[in-house]
Amino acid sequence: MIGTGYVGLVTGLCFCELGDDVVCIDIIDEKVDMVNAGNPPIFEKGLEELLRKHLAEGRFRASAEYDEVLQTDITFICVGTPTYEDGSLDLRYVKDAADDLGTLLRRKRTRHTVVVKSTVPPTTTEQFVAPILQKRSGKKVGKTIGLAMNPEFLREGSAIEDFLNPDRIIIGASDPKSMQVVRSLYESFDCPIIEVTPTTAEMIKVANNAALATRISMINEIGNVCKALGIDVRDVAKGIGMDARIGPAFLKAGAGFGGSCFPKDVKCFIAQAKHLGLEPWVMQSVIDVNEAQPLRLIALLEKHLKLRGKTIAVLGLAFKPETDDVRESRSFPVIELLLRKGAGVKVHDPKAMANFKQFMPDIHYSESAKACVRGADAVLIMTEWPEYADPKLYGDKLVIDGRGVVKTKNYEGICW
Ligand code: UDX
Repeated sequence: MIGTGYVGLVTGLCFCELGDDVVCIDIIDEKVDMVNAGNPPIFEKGLEELLRKHLAEGRFRASAEYDEVLQTDITFICVGTPTYEDGSLDLRYVKDAADDLGTLLRRKRTRHTVVVKSTVPPTTTEQFVAPILQKRSGKKVGKTIGLAMNPEFLREGSAIEDFLNPDRIIIGASDPKSMQVVRSLYESFDCPIIEVTPTTAEMIKVANNAALATRISMINEIGNVCKALGIDVRDVAKGIGMDARIGPAFLKAGAGFGGSCFPKDVKCFIAQAKHLGLEPWVMQSVIDVNEAQPLRLIALLEKHLKLRGKTIAVLGLAFKPETDDVRESRSFPVIELLLRKGAGVKVHDPKAMANFKQFMPDIHYSESAKACVRGADAVLIMTEWPEYADPKLYGDKLVIDGRGVVKTKNYEGICW
């Protein structure tokens, strides 16, 4: 695994569970030391146990030495792909990985298979990674170097479970031998394996997230109309979700989607479509709804009180429960607007306060939900942590609920 981030670690350790031996390569020495000491640099349910188990069994280790690749058969590229302002992706780490791998593979006598796991814009593996590998190695992709793209569909908080119980596996390979090599890794699974080209595999990943994000913006838009008509959107979601053509998942209306994937992948799709001279109307609206949605909470709040000089408690900073990840959390735009409108802001989150503080150090961080609510003029709920579900926490305080966590005496829901 090149990259000891979220995808590299989870994927690597899950392959150990399947019986493979894995080495995770990372350029950051401290990360390598942490991992080898049994401490994952990220929080993910079950990851620490898995790491300790496979370190002890000698199946897994991290290393800063790229040369270790030469002792292996397959290399997964699991590096980060940061976003540029226009939504397109900065592929510099993918390039570095391909450069280093290509250079090393010049020395390897036997066939080696390179698999892109990072989410990348369609065509990256065939048109960007392949030429670099060929140039650096002096070898031909499809002959002595195998190349494939194998996207992940891991949700934070259930990544290990998702890996080990997939709906399907997508393998995009440049030649039959690479297809067979990557397929063999998953032979113990009894789910469908879809064989496509690398470019199609890349598009399946982006389209998958685009489709899920679209459902969320759609139900949020429907929810906003429901609220105006006095309808509870949750009843509507249940009603439409029973249509087998629609299905019940990802129809939870609320303050919008965050995280490391949905906003980024939809914006990347938009950038690529525009680059191709196409107009991505639907995906642009998905983002527009998602940017407006969290601010509705403030509009609802302002129906009840004037914000200037008031203290508002914001419960929940993680982009979803059971994670400390705050990337693209909908709490950011909400808190920024509260501050701009002259309100004081107190916040709480059971896991994500340290991460949030790095971006917003100047608001008040409360040690408990109770302390956060105490003394506040109103409460906004931004993440559905189970501990926010107790109505006693709020007394008769005004609660504006962005996630459908609770029902209190003095209450408004975002879409119900
Ligand atoms: C997602 C995809 O699910 C996963 O397959 C992909 O590979 C990575 O991105 P993740 O970002 O971990 O996973 O979170 P997910 O559970 O999908 O939720 C994303 C966001 O959507 C959260 O902010 C969540 O609150 C929001 N959401 C989700 C809704 O608002 N409503 C829903 O019905 C579902």
